[in-house]
Amino acid sequence: ACAGRFVVALDGPAAAGKGTIARALAARFGFAHLDTGLLYRAVGRKALAAGGGAIRPEDAIRAARALRAEDLQAPGLRDPQVGQAASQAAALPEVRAALLDFQRAFAARPGGAVLDGRDIGTVICPDADVKLFVTASDEVRARRRCAELRAGGAEATFEQVLEDLRRRDARDAAREAAPMKPAPDAVLLDTTKLSIDAAVAQAAALIERKCAGR
Ligand code: DC
Repeated sequence: ACAGRFVVALDGPAAAGKGTIARALAARFGFAHLDTGLLYRAVGRKALAAGGGAIRPEDAIRAARALRAEDLQAPGLRDPQVGQAASQAAALPEVRAALLDFQRAFAARPGGAVLDGRDIGTVICPDADVKLFVTASDEVRARRRCAELRAGGAEATFEQVLEDLRRRDARDAAREAAPMKPAPDAVLLDTTKLSIDAAVAQAAALIERKCAGR
């Protein structure tokens, strides 16, 4: 549908539906998809192991500089404690710098790419063709994440998940290095009352309009 390079930047807080929307868009338009949270999760996981459960900046920086593609397949990347570790590691400018080139190279793929994360539209791909900032109320996000965790066989209570998301979002939004925030030219997509299918349809319409106009 869209010839040549085309970049979709999908940002927003944890469990807002970015991943699901990104995968659906990638399938529909034939774009490659990069879940950039996985990079930070892989770094957080390695740093947790190196620090015996604590995140030491030097471990996180070393892990980011040595990150390899197969680290993104490691088990346990979706665990809540790895998510917190990722959020802590992600606040370090050296960690972010070490992951920059990989993300930019991915975005430059000839067939088009969709990247989801926190700073794609603001820092990684400020010239993205379409920028979306996906949100939902804390409660809706916690409910969705809880169902996801339970479906994967993990034990999760709503209160725990809610606290986990809030803690991560607060840290991700307050940090100095590439804080989570909508780019000035991002379209806000609130999925609190919108089904994921409806959100995908809105995003797809935006992409089609943009493709047609170039
Ligand atoms: O998308 P996620 O929940 O898997 O991301 C895990 C953490 O990684 C998140 O709390 C903050 C960090 N992150 C980031 O700082 N920048 C990104 N582009 C993606 C994730």
